[in-house]
Amino acid sequence: MNTPSITQPLGTRRSGPLRGTAKVPGDKSISHRALILGALTVGETRISGLLEAEDVLNTAKVMRQFGATITREDAGLWRVWGTGGGGWGEPAGALDFGNSGTGSRLVMGAMATAPITAIFTGDASLRARPMKRVLEPLEKFGATWEAQDGGLMPVTLHGTDRPICIDYEVKVASAQVKSALLLAALNAPGRTRIVQASLTRDHTEKMLKAFGAEISVEPLKRGEAIHVTGEAELRPCAVDVPRDPSSAAFPLVAALITPGSEISIPDVLLNTRRTGLLDTLHEMGADIAIQNIRESGGEKIGNLLVKHSSLNGVEVPPERAPAMIDEYPILAIAASFAEGRTTMLGLEELRVKESDRLSAIVSGLRANGVRVTESADSMTIEGGRVPGGGRVITHMDHRIAMSFLVMGLASHESVTVDDTSMISTSFPEFENLMQSLGADFQRVNA
Ligand code: S3P
Repeated sequence: MNTPSITQPLGTRRSGPLRGTAKVPGDKSISHRALILGALTVGETRISGLLEAEDVLNTAKVMRQFGATITREDAGLWRVWGTGGGGWGEPAGALDFGNSGTGSRLVMGAMATAPITAIFTGDASLRARPMKRVLEPLEKFGATWEAQDGGLMPVTLHGTDRPICIDYEVKVASAQVKSALLLAALNAPGRTRIVQASLTRDHTEKMLKAFGAEISVEPLKRGEAIHVTGEAELRPCAVDVPRDPSSAAFPLVAALITPGSEISIPDVLLNTRRTGLLDTLHEMGADIAIQNIRESGGEKIGNLLVKHSSLNGVEVPPERAPAMIDEYPILAIAASFAEGRTTMLGLEELRVKESDRLSAIVSGLRANGVRVTESADSMTIEGGRVPGGGRVITHMDHRIAMSFLVMGLASHESVTVDDTSMISTSFPEFENLMQSLGADFQRVNA
């Protein structure tokens, strides 16, 4: 288990205009997948722009435990020599994924159809997150498992030596579950069909195609069906990781709410299954120009030019949730500064993120004098005036910490968060980068 880090509280106060270029780190989803697919491929996979944050480094460490050779050549430049899906060896110790739901769930899928057993664990946040959503469908391939309290880590997963292909509908709107099943299907002879009603991020599908897997996507009236042919021989390929739109969201909203700001954020991933926040902010009246749209490594990318804007409240429809699932905490901050009411619907998945994010957002907003109501799967924020002055409990959630630090840049009083240590799971450069733009951070006592 990762040694629990010492809590690091931090505050932000009203700042002058933010100016400059925010080069945010590589996309977390794509980084995990590049390492895992590299390890499932015989030969050398070259990765550039890899996110060097704790979540992804844990995935790299776990891939080594299964037998991959992984080296870091330079900043963001990594090489993976995989052993092939059938070639994964049984890991010596438990696999510690730290804070990462994505790493752990994708790897469960990738090993479920290999004849090996592994123990999956993580930090207190990850050990509280539901794993049955992945483990139950993996049983259909032939895998078996034991878990705590019916589905929590530590989980022991026994991969099967006789995998069978499946036809399965994923009931939750989760790219992690979908991806786990697609990775499991690689080692199951025959054609697996995975159906999902919601259009969650499709990086696994795109990357599998680039690695030579036989995979096709059939649009359905509601959602889509993905077909993968098993016993796939993946071939190594080069992966260029674009910058992470979920990390870009923090300087982006910071510039929108801080008067006089104008910043640029280059080379951001613009996959339409990740751009729900941009759509919503545009509807709210945000001045965000998307420039130099181009393709890189099979993904659409572009540069964002962001100026301080007067925002208006909107209703965010539930069907947009998969395309902005990680962006609700920072959208809640934008909504607090917007004139009028913002309602966000279809938020049930927020309850099972790194924290119960819906409740963490609501408590944080209330601590800072923002009026908000919540239901089981929605939130309504009355925007306009943001008094600030509160201390926010982050519940080991990096996105809650970064969102409320952004709030403090434009609220009347400063905002403090109880712990920032988790920010290093996804965006280790956050504080330095924000400071370089002009954000005013204050060290506070634990
Ligand atoms: C991710 C999928 C999302 C997201 C997570 C990354 C992925 O989770 O919240 O940060 O890389 O597949 P769910 O698929 O559980 O919604």
